[in-house]
Order: sequence, then C-alpha cells, then structure tokens
Amino acid sequence: MTNSNTTTGPIGIFDSGYGGLTILSEIRKSLPEYDYIYLGDNARAPYGTRSFDIVYRFTLEAVNYLFDQGCPLVILACNTASAKALRSIQQNNLPEIDPTRRVLGVIRPTVETIGKLTHTGKIGIFGTPGTVKSGSYEMEIAKLYPDFTTVTHACPMWVPLIENGEATSPGADYFVKQEVERLLAKEPDIDTIILGCTHYPLLIDKIKAYVPEGITVLPQGELVGKSLADYLSRHPEMETRLTKGSSCRFLTTENADKFNESASIFLSHPVTAESITL
Ligand code: DGL
Repeated sequence: MTNSNTTTGPIGIFDSGYGGLTILSEIRKSLPEYDYIYLGDNARAPYGTRSFDIVYRFTLEAVNYLFDQGCPLVILACNTASAKALRSIQQNNLPEIDPTRRVLGVIRPTVETIGKLTHTGKIGIFGTPGTVKSGSYEMEIAKLYPDFTTVTHACPMWVPLIENGEATSPGADYFVKQEVERLLAKEPDIDTIILGCTHYPLLIDKIKAYVPEGITVLPQGELVGKSLADYLSRHPEMETRLTKGSSCRFLTTENADKFNESASIFLSHPVTAESITL
C-alpha cells in the first residue's frame, strides 16, 4: 500500500492503443491547465477481442504503472477496459494500492448524458465484442433509466480498419454500412446511437452518412471532458493534487516511432512518445 494523499502529479489517461487519444484531446480542451500522461498498451492491443481476465490484468498493470508515475487520478479512456476491469480495480485493488487515488471510466459519464438526448428511449450502442459481451452498457442504462431499451452491436472490423489508417477509405464504407444496418434491424426505433469505443469517432462521418436522419450519433470525448471537469469541481481534495503545467507525455508499450506515426491519424499535432514496458 502506497497510501499517500499528498501525492501530486498528472492525470493518467489509459487506452489499449490509440483510441484514447480522441478522449485525451477533448479532455485537454475542457481542462487545458493540467498535466497529463497518456499510456497506450499498443503492443497488446486490441483488447476488444480478449477475455475478461486478460483485460483486467493488463489494465491493472497499466494503472499501477501510471500510479508509479505519480498520477493521483487515472481515466480508463477505453470502453473495453472500463467494461471489464474498472469495477474490480475500484472495489478490489484500489483499497489495497492506495485508497486516496481514483480510477474513472468512460461508460458511466456516457450513460448519464443520454437521458437528455433520446425521445424514444431506445438506445443503440456500437462497441467492441468485449464491451458488448460484458453487458455493461445495458446494466448502467437500466440503473439510471429502467424504461429504456438498449440494443448493443459489436463491430469487430472497425478498430483494425482505423488502426490501419483505412478509416476514410472507400473500403471502410462497406463495413460501416453493414453494421449500421444490422444495429437498426435489431430495433428500428433507436433515436440515439452511442459510439461505445474510443476509436469510433474516426468513422463518425461515414457512420452519420448511413444512419437515417433524426438519429443522434454520440461520440464520447466531449462529454467525458465535461464530466471530468464537473467531477474535479465536486472533489477539491483530488483537484488540488493535480499538477498544472499544461504538459502531456505520451507512453507506449510499442515502438515509439510507430506510435508517433500512427498517433497522427488521431491527433492534429505531432507527438514524441517514449517506449515503456509494463
Ligand atoms: N479503444 C477501445 C475501446 O474503447 C477499443 C480498442 C481495442 O479493442 O483495443 O473499447
């Protein structure tokens, strides 16, 4: 146990790979004054097709690494990790490791937003096979809105398409159209679709092109940024432990040059990552 409520440091942002960069950008827009460390477990991505136990173990290793870097607060900017590892880490590991630190995910803030958006109460979720299989969105939505209907749909081809730089290629249209049609065939009255994978905002233009008018397509970055700002305003004991130098370090478990090149698909500015081992 490293129990130290005087630890000050950056906000840790974790994802299996590059998708969390879409969340990082939006968080930094909402909260530019803080220091950040982004960690992508690129060497072991994708997580979306991995078992519960493996995602939990890998995510815990990453959280511990970010704690060792001095982060008082870690955001799991990955739906798969939020779905499969967050609760266990919060309930079983944090009390042991350091009860004053916090780990937050992206599913809860996303679900909190949808009540304001839907009229039909019929919600569609696109996610990785892991997120869909976990049933996390259905559970969270049922807790807050027991009358809503939630329909989830796994899109196993979307992350590889994006990671291979094919998000804007004509070939991507085939897979986007196919999954949109499959989701809507399950429930035609859906009026709100959550992009429940942090990679998917890179496909948002194509997704919107195949989704009928009147359906809201919701990416998570902006709402996660706002939710974090709200959290920090309600938790001064955490806010005062976060250092403010507007910096951002990028860490990857893959080769740093490879990360720098691929990160440019997700970010509008160049990055210089450091390679680390978990
Ligand atoms: N970015 C992850 C998520 O939000 C998915 C990527 C992966 O499969 O590793 O679920």
